[in-house]
Amino acid sequence: MIVILDFGSQYSELIARRIRETQVYSEVLSYRTTAEQLKQLNPKGIIFSGGPSSVYDDRAPECDPEIWHLGIPVLGVCYGMQLMVKQLGGKVLPAQKREYGKASLLIDDPTDLLTNVEDGTTMWMSHGDSCAELPEGFEVLAHTENTPCAAIANYDKKLYGVQFHPEVVHSIGGLALIRNFVYHICDCEPTWTTDAFVEEAIREIRARVGEKRVLLALSGGVDSSTLAFLLHKAIGDQLTCVFIDQGFMRKLEPERLVKLFQEQFHIPVEYVNARDRFLALVAGVTDPEEKRRRIGHEFIQVFEEASKQLGPFDYLAQGTLYPDVIESADTNVDPKTGERVAVKIKSHHNVGGLPKDLRFKLVEPLRKLFKDEVRKVGRSIGLPEEIVQRQPFPGPGLAIRIIGEITAERLDILRDADLIVRQEINRRGIYHDFWQAFAVLLPIRSVGVMGDQRTYAYPIVLRLVSSEDGMTADWSRVPYDILEAISNRIVNEVKGVNRVVLDITSKPPGTIEWE
Ligand code: XMP
Repeated sequence: MIVILDFGSQYSELIARRIRETQVYSEVLSYRTTAEQLKQLNPKGIIFSGGPSSVYDDRAPECDPEIWHLGIPVLGVCYGMQLMVKQLGGKVLPAQKREYGKASLLIDDPTDLLTNVEDGTTMWMSHGDSCAELPEGFEVLAHTENTPCAAIANYDKKLYGVQFHPEVVHSIGGLALIRNFVYHICDCEPTWTTDAFVEEAIREIRARVGEKRVLLALSGGVDSSTLAFLLHKAIGDQLTCVFIDQGFMRKLEPERLVKLFQEQFHIPVEYVNARDRFLALVAGVTDPEEKRRRIGHEFIQVFEEASKQLGPFDYLAQGTLYPDVIESADTNVDPKTGERVAVKIKSHHNVGGLPKDLRFKLVEPLRKLFKDEVRKVGRSIGLPEEIVQRQPFPGPGLAIRIIGEITAERLDILRDADLIVRQEINRRGIYHDFWQAFAVLLPIRSVGVMGDQRTYAYPIVLRLVSSEDGMTADWSRVPYDILEAISNRIVNEVKGVNRVVLDITSKPPGTIEWE
């Protein structure tokens, strides 16, 4: 295992993912982790992340200085390197020129850490301070035009520092450098594989659960589907999957999901049809947050009822992923105050999710995985691509894509329009070009003409966006002929719609969903 000590960098998670891409397990821990704790964990190597501070800020995060003497190889990245330099007796000063963006790495020692990294390769820089004087025992491995010490090492102690960010995609030689560190310097073996994960997860589930019964709320997303599969493999019919159909899913999805699980995976699913209940509950409600509140609350009610009826259960399976685990860790610090801050501001709690105080014990076999790793596991166990690569779908579903009041008629209209959007996009093989591609129904009507008839019907909004993580997004530039095909089909085939409009707002200032 490689441990990443997080000094508040937005890239700490990315470093962990890069390490795992080399098939070596990695974990992100707080910069406050002590040498003693690290000794217990016994990692093969440690990476110090970057961070927003200057090492000379009053409250700049510092590591336990004993870490330098553990004999475990360390790679300091950006702030991590500056901290290494400062704590070991060198000097860090504000750089002559703040360096931000791509820089050409000129290599002075092409061995060891920089083996197979091409001279002149591009690396991504983002720093205000620089190393001005090396600590004793260190030498320069590479420089750039503005940064004399861009990569440094103390070979005897296996301490390394890089001023650039090898983890970002713009750093062309970054992965080669990371591989050198992981394989040659830390002597790791490529043991973090999907097969090994599945095997171990199954073993752990069996050990934790024993003969007890487990309940799982299946949603149709990749997380809960993968979870169901793993648990079923581990404990067979001690697992009960419940699928709650609140009536706000996309067209044909509930039926398809249940069929897939029953017939292809031979995993029984308890289908709970709560459509009427939810529809009655949101009747007349127009406020988006009130919709979310009611749906979220009702979901828990229905789930609890189902658990009583089908139970008793001892465990609840949850699809907690590694980023949720890191986010709740004590890692992020404001450089000015030393206070803990959340780097990521979650815009939504999963409304389809469950509260923390249900009286079950939890089993969370995916808690070590990043989303892309869940996809890999899902794929390896035979989940179809439509689930593995499914675009995000909000817990309250179509309820927040019908602006204003939700009625059965409006739901049917939106479902049909939404299906056409998906069909036209799938037909062209461009589903993965979008973070999300969907339809929204507006509660107003406008005049149109069809044949000789005047129409007075709803408009449908096309919302097609690209995004990395849903926190920011851009509207997708879709060729006109595709928009035309979608618009024609919706207006001609969906009764109740006579106009299609395109949302050309990015996030911010818009949001992805309309409610
Ligand atoms: P916004 O609309 O805030 O959405 O730009 C960002 C991402 O979150 C999803 N989203 C939700 N997910 N419950 C969810 O589980 C919700 O209430 C909810 N609202 C928005 C949205 O689809 C997008 O991916």
